Amino acid sequence: MQRIPTLTSTAVSQRPVLLQTISLLPSLERQLAETYDVHRLPAAGPERDAFLAARGAEFDGLVTSAANGADAALIAALPKIRAISSFGVGLDKLDLDAAKKRGLPVGYTPDVLNDCVADLAFALMLAIGRRIPEGDRYVRAGRWVEKGAPPFPFGRQVSGAKLGIVGLGRIGRTIARRAAGFDMEVRYHSRRPVEGVAWQHEPKLLELARWADFLVVITAGGAETRHLVNAEVLDALGTKGYIVNVARGTVIDEAALVKALQEKRIGGAALDVFEREPQVPPELFALDNVVMVPHIASATVQTREAMGRRVLDNLAAGLAGKPMPSDATAG
Ligand code: NAP
Ligand code: 8YV
Repeated sequence: MQRIPTLTSTAVSQRPVLLQTISLLPSLERQLAETYDVHRLPAAGPERDAFLAARGAEFDGLVTSAANGADAALIAALPKIRAISSFGVGLDKLDLDAAKKRGLPVGYTPDVLNDCVADLAFALMLAIGRRIPEGDRYVRAGRWVEKGAPPFPFGRQVSGAKLGIVGLGRIGRTIARRAAGFDMEVRYHSRRPVEGVAWQHEPKLLELARWADFLVVITAGGAETRHLVNAEVLDALGTKGYIVNVARGTVIDEAALVKALQEKRIGGAALDVFEREPQVPPELFALDNVVMVPHIASATVQTREAMGRRVLDNLAAGLAGKPMPSDATAG
């Protein structure tokens, strides 16, 4: 078996030693390398297991992302880490309980991405409601100038429509505020009503779906919200309604959604996230009543850099034993 060199058998560094689970923003990787000795975790499999067994005890900190997270086994394999810092706000792939049991702070990047995710929610509502990608395909295919081609179909007006928001957290509230500029009536569903907001709370998701013209999903992901939006909710939304998902693919029963779209039982769907990313159900490729983008809600230069700065600030504070600016285990 190949011998895995340990730090003590190579160079002994004075700099904190970090384990990085996946590729991050190049500017963030450069900045991490300026301050830390950064090592990449091998892909899951026997090589990773051997690496962690040989070197797991050498690391001071773990850097990961919302997409990759850190499960209990990985955290257990790093007995000396003092901090975890994650690029992203979602915690569905990060075992917070395992971190808490160890007293490990877990940095994440809330708030700095609210605007971008809310912007994308509106971009998707407009894209599906006003048939923008479909119109683009129509023009590029030369259908507009084609003699005898059927006219391009009408869309659904977004301004003035009823907006149902599933999950009125940091991003959900930002979406709700944007809706005022579109003269939309807003109601929301979450387990508890949010104090101090004027928007109407709807305790039953089914009722919200019955009422809404656009249903935007922006709850947390994870086991508790898995398939919260199921066939029954989609049927309550019906042909008058459009669903937009900027949360996690798991919140919608994807098989039920594909069926509802194929059978035209809902007006349409606009999706940033999918159950098995980067795999997308191929049945969707043939449908015009769906708009899809590859998980880009926070993907602007400005927001990704702000997220990168928060990752660095959380890490520096955590390793210094100080409170992190954003610690998911706090409060
Ligand atoms: P947040 O402030 O924690 O809000 C989460 C909301 O989900 C809360 O309103 C919470 O309300 C609600 N919720 C949780 N469990 C629920 C349940 N079982 N039923 C109904 N509502 C439930 O989080 P945030 O910062 O707004 O972010 C929300 C999520 O967006 C993240 O967790 C992440 O997965 C996703 N996200 C995606 C992208 C992207 O690129 N597409 C980018 C950023 C974030 P209650 O606790 O009262 O139910
Ligand atoms: C990013 C996200 O795509 O913050 C989240 O939870 O889903 C997005 O902002 C993610 O951070 C990349 O891992």
